[in-house]
Amino acid sequence: MLHPEEVIKTAFPDTFINELVARNDIVDVVSGYVRLGKRSGANLFGLCPFHSEKTPSFSVSPDKQIYHCFGCGKGGGVINFIMEIENLSFPEAVAFLARRANMPLPEQENDRESKKRARMLALNREAARFFYEQLSSPAGEKARAYMAGRGISKATATNFGLGAAPDEWSSLEQAMREKGYTDYELFDAGLIKKGRNGGYYDTFRNRLMFPVIDVRGNVIGFSGRILSGDGPKYLNSPETLVFNKGSNLFALNLAKKSKNGYILLSEGNIDVVSLHQAGFDSAVASLGTSLTSEQARLISRYTNQVIIAYDNDGAGQKAAQRAIGILEKLDLKVKVLQMSGAKDPDEFIKLKGPEAFQMLIEGSENQVEYRLGQIARKYDLGVDAQKVDYLRESEELLARLPNAAEREVYCRRVAADAGISADVLIGEVKARRRRLLKRTEAASRSSPEKQTQPAERQYRYSDPASAVAEEGVIRLLYLDPALIRRGDLPAAEAFSSPTLAHIYTVLCRRLKAGQAVSADLLGAELEQGEVALLVDLLQKPETLSNSARALDDYINRIRQRRRAAAEGDDLLGILQERRKELK
Ligand code: CTP
Ligand code: MN
Repeated sequence: MLHPEEVIKTAFPDTFINELVARNDIVDVVSGYVRLGKRSGANLFGLCPFHSEKTPSFSVSPDKQIYHCFGCGKGGGVINFIMEIENLSFPEAVAFLARRANMPLPEQENDRESKKRARMLALNREAARFFYEQLSSPAGEKARAYMAGRGISKATATNFGLGAAPDEWSSLEQAMREKGYTDYELFDAGLIKKGRNGGYYDTFRNRLMFPVIDVRGNVIGFSGRILSGDGPKYLNSPETLVFNKGSNLFALNLAKKSKNGYILLSEGNIDVVSLHQAGFDSAVASLGTSLTSEQARLISRYTNQVIIAYDNDGAGQKAAQRAIGILEKLDLKVKVLQMSGAKDPDEFIKLKGPEAFQMLIEGSENQVEYRLGQIARKYDLGVDAQKVDYLRESEELLARLPNAAEREVYCRRVAADAGISADVLIGEVKARRRRLLKRTEAASRSSPEKQTQPAERQYRYSDPASAVAEEGVIRLLYLDPALIRRGDLPAAEAFSSPTLAHIYTVLCRRLKAGQAVSADLLGAELEQGEVALLVDLLQKPETLSNSARALDDYINRIRQRRRAAAEGDDLLGILQERRKELK
């Protein structure tokens, strides 16, 4: 598997960035590289330093302190400009501009933040050690018995650093205080909670403990599985300075070292542990959330293939459908395991053994097979009328397959299942595809959305109609931050463009924390191309007189497109394929 370089975000305080930007006026800075000539409206124009051109399309806005090239799409604040033109990283560009303005770098502030993080990570590591030690003490009796009952070996427990939270109210608190940590620190780390009487009590009690370890090896939080009594099956650490459920995966620290070439995605921590024990060392689980696009991004840094092994119940299958959509947006190849006769991977391996599971993986259905299987399950093929419906629904799916060979292979299979001649079905599918393409082309000709594509290829929108609305949501939130208080903002997963989803996630996180936004502030967390895309979309006109209403319209549009996509009506995808075929 790939070992990508981890992006470590250096946290400069906002106040420092704002001051840095104020002391490095973008017009002055840019003028050191570009001759800014004529003024047009509020902007200054010059020849773009990032692509060759004869008429100026590079603009600088003194009011907004941003630059933007209408030709090549590059754009951002002053920090981004220096990154781009001097080929520097974000912290390097910050240092460059600080030197230019004669400002000292904020070492103390920066240190304080990172010291706090480091100390929380050290505390988590101590806590993990405490839980681990309990596992072999009398207080760990129940957890040991539970592990034995589930067939988890000592070696596996060590590999994962499993532990036991004693059935007591403050054993962890006591132990950590002896190590010199204060209640404040324990509270901030989510390890203790405040009781009604003002006292503190341990968050995790009477649970089998799973430390959550990030890809750099830091213990960032915990999941605890209940051993007996009432309460949720899993309890996870709350959000802290170092832990965010939706952007981490359980066991990715181990799975990233696997030689499997795929990631196995399952639901429960116990499933993950069993899978690793049985030799499937690329298993991970999301931490009690349905798969998020951030988790999918994380996965895509290590592999291009994901095998979903969710529970075999209705909820699991529904979650699988959702996950497929999220993973495919990032161009990951997705397969879904069908475990018959067992409720989850853990039970399957116990009942049938690792070899049977391996065979399941090798024979695991690809997307098309899985979807066809879902259709077949709805109908009784022994009844003629139902057979006709089965064929009609399958044809719709087959007609949308981009690849001609694939269409033929699956036509033959469906025809055989339904007991009709393959040639008849192939003919039907061909005709249906022709109608589909005609409709799609007509739709795209009348669509003004073609020009909306970002300049950079890697950010191309798969669904421009939705992306336009996604851009709108971002633009409105940026320009009118009070809108963040609305309860019905879409989830980032509803976005069709992973890039816009990421910009949206970062933007919402800042606004929710009451932080200001600017191209330079967001630039600390976004890639350069993402900043350029943001600045580009901010240039487009927006109705601010009734921003709540405008936001409604965008949200509705995103929902509509999502419904259409869910119904498999992704006409634009087909059109793109068609263009490729014509080339
Ligand atoms: N879950 C959670 N927090 C985690 C892991 C899982 O809240 N850190 C939730 C998942 O969202 C899912 C359920 O727990 O709803 C998974 O349950 P299951 O697969 O049954 O968990 P297992 O660990 O496999 O437990 P068991 O097999 O004993 O039922
Ligand atoms: Mn399970």
